Amino acid sequence: MTQLKKWGVYEAKIENLWFWWEWIAKIDDFVIFIKWWIPGQKVKFVLQKKKKSHWNWKLQEVLEKSNIEISAKCQHFWKCWWCKWQNLDYKKQLEYKENQVKESLKHIWKFDLETINFSPILGSPEIFWYRNKVEFSFWYQEMRVETDEDWNKKFFDTWETAWFHKPWKFQEIVDIANCDLITENANQVFQLIKTECLKFSKEVFNPYSHKWLWRHILIRENLKWELMINLIINLFQNKYKNQRFNTFLENLAIKLQNFWNWNWNSNWVHNWKLNYVKNFFYTNNPWLNDDWAKYEVHKIFWEDEFIEENILWLNFKISAKSFFQTNSGWAEVLYSQVKKFSDEIFANSEKTTDKIFIDLYCWTWTIGQILAKDSDAQVVWIEYIESAVEDAKENSKLNNLTNTEFICGKVEEKLPELLEEFQELDLIVIDPPRAWMHKKAIETIMNSEAKNLIYVSCNPSTFARDAQIFAEKYVLEKVQAVDMFPHTSHIELVAKFKLK
Ligand SMILES: C[S@@+](CC[C@H](N)C(=O)[O-])C[C@H]1O[C@@H](n2cnc3c(N)ncnc32)[C@H](O)[C@@H]1O
Repeated sequence: MTQLKKWGVYEAKIENLWFWWEWIAKIDDFVIFIKWWIPGQKVKFVLQKKKKSHWNWKLQEVLEKSNIEISAKCQHFWKCWWCKWQNLDYKKQLEYKENQVKESLKHIWKFDLETINFSPILGSPEIFWYRNKVEFSFWYQEMRVETDEDWNKKFFDTWETAWFHKPWKFQEIVDIANCDLITENANQVFQLIKTECLKFSKEVFNPYSHKWLWRHILIRENLKWELMINLIINLFQNKYKNQRFNTFLENLAIKLQNFWNWNWNSNWVHNWKLNYVKNFFYTNNPWLNDDWAKYEVHKIFWEDEFIEENILWLNFKISAKSFFQTNSGWAEVLYSQVKKFSDEIFANSEKTTDKIFIDLYCWTWTIGQILAKDSDAQVVWIEYIESAVEDAKENSKLNNLTNTEFICGKVEEKLPELLEEFQELDLIVIDPPRAWMHKKAIETIMNSEAKNLIYVSCNPSTFARDAQIFAEKYVLEKVQAVDMFPHTSHIELVAKFKLK
């Protein structure tokens, strides 16, 4: 039996997926969780620190390649690793994702898989260039913070080496020349803004000293290849509220307005598409936290405040702050699945006129509208972000829907009142945030007489936990996994429950 020791160097073969991006390797019977590497690889690593249930470790070398390993397309793969699965064949990615949904239900929450109807996972047709939103952050190559005996911090900002940190990662940097998850257009616009901003000033926001200008560049792009840009800055006690900065923004706006590309894409019927920047905003976030969505967006130029997406013959106006599925092209398939389950539920009922649907956690209200469109049923909607309520009302008007009702508030607080009002309830659609669904919301549903539930989830483990609670009163009939996020370990699924 091998004795595991701190700083010991070991070799092990990676066996299987544990959860998200963690894979299991074993030394004798001792399990270690290895992030990012792929099954079949034999790796050499050093153990750094013993935690309660596992060791922290650092990889030294890949000793043997795996036979399911492929070359990653992206030049930044080994540094950035946002697409941690890019060196795993796409068919294998789908296999592991599908298994993860089943494993969460079977091994963690003890469901009998034989009783559930699983359809094969639906893989995304585009495995690159599919993201419709990206946020890059300005950062430093080096940022030193020193604290003297009196606990005064001193900052050493190295302007001349301002870099961008890893997308979606704090404190680690990689100078992204090109991201393969966003389109060539989004990449070009990103490079243009980055270059112009740093030419104007190297003053990158320092989260420790709380000073300086540049924070983030947010880029959204719709399926019509129209771009929306939001530059997040810190006007820093009005230091940059001056004519020089205004002129810079105006000049950058002219450059962005002149940016357009004819692009060729083999998936489009009309293969050439004109791509252009439709709107450009800035947001001043003077605070330490990165929650810029709390603050006003300021117009630099725009045709209007939104870009539009058309999904299942409905138009959705998407504002700078809106939540929208990040893979617009495949969102249609995800939402069609919800529609399919709902159609199955109502296939045998005579009429839907007195039926009630409730759509919980809905943001721009995609799912609710898709269900309301071909139905006379009344659809009630609950979401707690006020600007989302405005988006939803706007979208409802845009699509001429009148059978809708909006409630702004927390699901756990509003749902009990709502269920008192509606005793007869045909369907509740739930699409909670990744982290959790409030216990009180689950209890309220369990105390209701809702006949059917459709649960959309981006987290198989919290889904399985909630499904186990619902299983006391509902039969979990069907589960459909959909891959919205190729090369990442994220999974989306739609499940259908029926009252016992
Ligand atoms: C996964 S998103 C839903 C996306 C939406 N169904 C769609 O397809 O576009 C989760 C939503 O839940 C909202 N949310 C989170 N916690 C909430 C709560 N306690 N009450 C109401 N809404 C909440 C978030 O603002 C977010 O819009």
